[in-house]
Amino acid sequence: MQIYHGSFVYSETQEKLAVYSGSYLAVEDGIIQGLYPVLPERFAGAPVEDLGTGVMIPAFSDLHVHAPQYPQRGLAMDALLYDWLHQYTFPLEAKYKDLSFAKQVYDAFAADLIASGTMHACIFGTIHNEATLYLMQILEEAGLRCFVGKVNMDMASPDYLCEETEESLMKTERFLEQGSQFRFAKPILTPRFVPTCTRELLSGLGALGKKYQIGVQTHLVESRWEAAEAIRMFPDCSCDTQIYEKAGLLGNGPVIGAHFIYPSEDDIRILKDCGGYAVHCPDATVNVIAGIMRSADLLGRGIRIGLGSDIAGGHCVGVYSQVSAAVQLSKLKWLYEGEKEEENNRPLSFAEAFYLATKEGGTVFGPVGSLEQGYQLDALVLDDLSDPGIPLSPEQVVERFCYTGQNRHIKARYLRGKRL
Ligand code: GUN
Ligand code: FE
Repeated sequence: MQIYHGSFVYSETQEKLAVYSGSYLAVEDGIIQGLYPVLPERFAGAPVEDLGTGVMIPAFSDLHVHAPQYPQRGLAMDALLYDWLHQYTFPLEAKYKDLSFAKQVYDAFAADLIASGTMHACIFGTIHNEATLYLMQILEEAGLRCFVGKVNMDMASPDYLCEETEESLMKTERFLEQGSQFRFAKPILTPRFVPTCTRELLSGLGALGKKYQIGVQTHLVESRWEAAEAIRMFPDCSCDTQIYEKAGLLGNGPVIGAHFIYPSEDDIRILKDCGGYAVHCPDATVNVIAGIMRSADLLGRGIRIGLGSDIAGGHCVGVYSQVSAAVQLSKLKWLYEGEKEEENNRPLSFAEAFYLATKEGGTVFGPVGSLEQGYQLDALVLDDLSDPGIPLSPEQVVERFCYTGQNRHIKARYLRGKRL
C-alpha cells in the first residue's frame, strides 16, 4: 500500500474535472484504491509520499503517432500531405530496412514518449518487420501499454517503400505471431491508408484480423484528396470507412481512425457502430493536412475521440500540447463556419479536451487515464508553473501546463504505481 498526499486533477466526466487538494490517494499493487479528503482509518500506518506543491494527473494517451518519423519532427512543415509524404516521409521510412538505424531512433523515441508524459500509444512503424518488432520490444521493456503496427502499402508508393501484396500479407502474419509474445505492447493491423492499399491487400488483412482477433489503425477521411481517391478506387463503397468494413477489418479489436476530418454520414454511422475512435491531431491538421476536425459535433453524435501527436505531421511529442491546440482549433472552426445545419460547431472546453487526451483515449488500453478507484496508477506530477507570489489552483496548473508547459514541468512519473 502506498499513499500520496496533495492535489489531484482528473476527468470525472467529459465535461467535468474532479479537483482535490490536501487529499489522499491510496494505491495497492499499482491499482488505485480510492481518493479521500481525509485518510481512512484502515490506511493508517501506510507510507505517505507528499506531493508538496505538485499536482498529480493521469498520464496521457497518444492515439496516433509514427515512431519512424521521429527524426523529422519540426522539419518540412511547409509542405502539404502528398508532397510531404513523397519528398520527405517515404525516403525516411525506407531507412528502417537498416536495423541499426531503427534501433537508434526507436530508443530515442520511446524515451521521449515517457519524458513527455505519454504512457499509452497507438503507434505506426514502417513496412519492415524486424525494425517494428524491435520497437515493440523497447516499448514492452519500458512497460508501456501500446498498440504497434507494421505498416502495409502495396501500390502508389515509391519502389523503395512498396510491397508485393502476397509478401505484405505473409510478413503481416509473421508480425502478428511474433508480436503477440508481449504483455503490454500489442500488435495492430496498419494499412497506411486506402490510396496505397489494393483491394486484395485490405481483404487479406481483414481475414488476418478475424483469424487473430486484431484491431486496425489507419488514416481515415484525412483530406479531401484522400477521401475522394478512396471512393474512386472503390466505386462499390460509399465512403472511406465502408472500404474497411467490407474488407472485414472492423470489429476484430480496436478501430483507430486518424484525422476523420471529412466524414460523410456513412463514415460517421459505420465508425460509431463499430465503437471505433476518431483521432484528433491538431498540429498535424494545421501542418500538413489542412482541415479541422468537427470535434464538438462528432462528440455530440457519440463518436469516441482521442488525441494524437501524429509525429511527424505534428511537431510536438507531448500530447498535452494537443489539448490546448484542440480547444484553439474548435474555436477557429466555430468562428469561420459557425453552426451549420449538418455540423454542430462550438468551442470545446478545456475540460473536454483534457478528457479526450486522458480518460477517453485511455479506454483503448484498459483501466488507465483516470485517478478513480480501479484504475492503474499511470500518472504525472506537475509543478513550477506559477509565478512568484501568485499561486494557481490545481486545475489552473493543469491548464497552464497544457498551454505553456514543457517536459521539465513534469516532476515525477508513475507507471503501474512505480516511480520512473
Ligand atoms: N497519410 C498516409 N500516410 C501518412 C502519414 O505518414 N502521416 C499522415 N499525417 N498522414 C498520412
Ligand atoms: Fe499519421
